[in-house]
Amino acid sequence: METKEAYFELCKEVERHDYYYFVENSPVISDYDYDLLVKKLESIEKKHPQWVVESPTSKVGGGFKGHFRAALHTVPMLSLSNTYSKEELFDFFDRLEKGLGTRPHVFCELKMDGIAVSCVYEKGVFVQGITRGNGIEGEDITENLKTIKTIPQKIPSDEPRLEVRGEVYMEKGVFEAINRERALADEELMKNPRNAAGGSLKLLDSAMVAKRKLSIVMYGIGAGYKAFKSQSDAMEQLKSWGFSIGKKSMLAQNASQVWEHIDSIEKVRSELPFDIDGVVIKVDQFSEQKELGETGKSPRWAIAYKFAAERKKTVIESITVQVGRTGVITPVAELTPVLLAGSTISRATLHNQDEIERKDIREGDTVVIEKGGDVIPKVVEVDLSKRVEGAKPWKMPKACPSCSQPLTQMESEVAVRCLNHSCPKQKLRHLIFFASKEAMDIDHLGQKIIETLFLQGLVKEASDFYRLKREDLIDLEGFQEKSVNNLLKSIEVSKMRPLGRLILALGIRHVGKISADLIAKTVGTLSSFLNLKRDQLVKMEGIGTIVAESLEDYLSDLKNRKLIEDLEKLGLKPEEKEVIQDHSFSGKAFVLTGTLENYSRQEAGDLILARGGKVTSSVTKRTDVVLYGKSAGSKLKKAEELGVLLMTEEAFTKAL
Ligand code: IVH
Repeated sequence: METKEAYFELCKEVERHDYYYFVENSPVISDYDYDLLVKKLESIEKKHPQWVVESPTSKVGGGFKGHFRAALHTVPMLSLSNTYSKEELFDFFDRLEKGLGTRPHVFCELKMDGIAVSCVYEKGVFVQGITRGNGIEGEDITENLKTIKTIPQKIPSDEPRLEVRGEVYMEKGVFEAINRERALADEELMKNPRNAAGGSLKLLDSAMVAKRKLSIVMYGIGAGYKAFKSQSDAMEQLKSWGFSIGKKSMLAQNASQVWEHIDSIEKVRSELPFDIDGVVIKVDQFSEQKELGETGKSPRWAIAYKFAAERKKTVIESITVQVGRTGVITPVAELTPVLLAGSTISRATLHNQDEIERKDIREGDTVVIEKGGDVIPKVVEVDLSKRVEGAKPWKMPKACPSCSQPLTQMESEVAVRCLNHSCPKQKLRHLIFFASKEAMDIDHLGQKIIETLFLQGLVKEASDFYRLKREDLIDLEGFQEKSVNNLLKSIEVSKMRPLGRLILALGIRHVGKISADLIAKTVGTLSSFLNLKRDQLVKMEGIGTIVAESLEDYLSDLKNRKLIEDLEKLGLKPEEKEVIQDHSFSGKAFVLTGTLENYSRQEAGDLILARGGKVTSSVTKRTDVVLYGKSAGSKLKKAEELGVLLMTEEAFTKAL
C-alpha cells in the first residue's frame, strides 16, 4: 500500500542522494539503485498526482540531465607503462634503439595528475569532449569542458576530425579554496585535487563545473595526427592555436639528459601550483612512434617515470581530539616533528574512529606519514615491529573534552559530535570563525586576542564584539592605546560588511559562502533574513533541502534569533546590494582617511562595497588604495611610505 507519508519519505531519500551525488560529489549508492528509486517515485506520482508538491523528479531538467551519453574515441586512448627506477628508464632507451636501429630524440613532459579527456574538432570547430572511459568509449562531457577557457571553440584546422587530448586538473590553490569553503559549510572535504577534478567533470550542471575553475593541458593527438610531424611540433602548433600545453617540457637526446631533467623536476615538484606524479618520456617523431607501435594497452614509444610520494617515519606521541565550530570531534595524531616535503609536520588528522580502527593506530606507535596530493599529511600505516608493549587500541572519548557532555554519533555520519551549543570550545571556535577573513574579516582580531577576550568573559557571543569598549581592553596584556583604537575601529568598520558575509559568519551548518550569498541576495536585509520561511528557501535556486532544513532549525532557536536581533540593535545594518561586476574597485582593499566633501564615510564605503571592493581601517602592505580627503594625516603618510595608490575625492568620483 502506498501512503502519502511513504511517498514523502521517498522524495526525501532521493533528495538526499541527489545531494550526495551533485553537491558532495560522493554518491553512497550505485547509479543503478538510484535509478530504481527514481523509477519508483515516478510510478507513484503517476498514480497520485495530487500528492506532488515539490518532487525531486520535477527538478530533473534544467541542468540535471540524467546520465552522460557514451561517445567513441576514433583512436583508442591508451595508457602508459610506468617505472619508478632509473635502471628501467635506461632499459627503455635500449629498447628504443633496438626497435629503430638508432637513438631517437625524446620529448619529456610533466605527468599531470588529473583526468584524461579528448577534445574533438571537426574542420576546426570544437564539437565534442569525451572522458577517457575504458579507452575505447568514454562519456560525452562537452558542456563541462566548455567551462575551461583554454579549450578553444575554433581552431585554424581543416582536418575533418582532429582529437586533441589532454589532462584536466585542478590547481592546488583552487582546491584549497574549495575545501576551505566546504569546511566553512561543514561539508565533507574533497580528498585531493585529482579527485576534485574528476568529480567536477562528472557534475551534471555545467554552471556548477564552471565554479570549480578547472584547468587543462594538452599532451597528445588522437585522430588527425598526420597533420603534425612530431610531438614537439604538435605542441607548438596547439599552443599557437590557444591551447595550454605542459610546462617544463624538454627535447632530449639521450637517457642521461632525461635523467638530469627528471632530477631537476623532482626538486621543484612541491613548488608547482598543480600536482604531478612524474615525467612522461615520448619518442618525438611521429614516424618513429608509428614504427615502434603498441603492445596491448600502452605504446612502446613512451614511458612514465613516476615519483614516489614523499614518506617519513615518526612517532605518535599522543592522540588528542579537536572540537570543531559545529561540534564535530576529530581525533588528531600529535607527532614527533619531522621534515616532510618542505614543511615540518607535527600533527596529522586521523579523521574518525573508523579510520583509526581500520589502520589499527595506537598512541606510541611508529607510523609512516605521507604528503602526497593531499594538503594535510596522512598516516599511511603503522610499523608494527616497533609497537611498544602494552599499547592499547584507541577509543573515542564518551564525553566532550571541552564541556564533558556526552558525545553523539549522528545517523548517516561517521563523525561524532558534541551537541551542546553552549560548549565552550565550540563557542570559541565560532567566535574565531566569525571574525576571520572569510567571514566578517575583522582586522586586528586574531585567534589569540579572541581567546583572551573569551577567557576573560568579555566576549561570550559574537554580538559582544560590538559591545567592547576602550575600558574593557586597555588593561589586557599586550594592549596599548593604539592597538585598542585599531581594534575598535576595525570592529566598527566590520558593521558595513555585506549581508552574505554576516549570514556566513553566523556559522549555520551546511551554509557556506555560496549559499550565504544566494540567501543574502534573495532576502536583502537582516530582518527579512530573520523572517525567512522554509517555502521561500526551497524555491531559491541553488539551495537544497539540507541547507533549507539546517536554516530552518537555526532560525527556530530563540538564542540564535536573539543573537541576530542584538547584532541589528548594535548597529549592524548589512544590506545586500547588487555588486557591480568587473569594476576597477573589485577585490581592492580601501582605507578612507581625512574628510571627504561630497560623501560621508558610510556613503563612500557603501559605494566601494557595491563595486566589489572592501574597506579596512588601517594602512598595511595589503592595502590597495587610500582614498583621502581634507586634513588627512598619518594614514596618508604611511600609505606614501608603503607606496600604496593614493586617490583624491575627485579621482574617486571619476572612477565610480
Ligand atoms: S600521454 C599513449 N602525456 O597519464 C599516451 N599522458 O598513465 C597516452 N598523463 O591516461 C598518454 N600527463 O591521463 C601523456 N604529459 C602526459 C601526461 C599523461 C598525464 C596521464 C594521462 C594518461 C595517464 C597514463
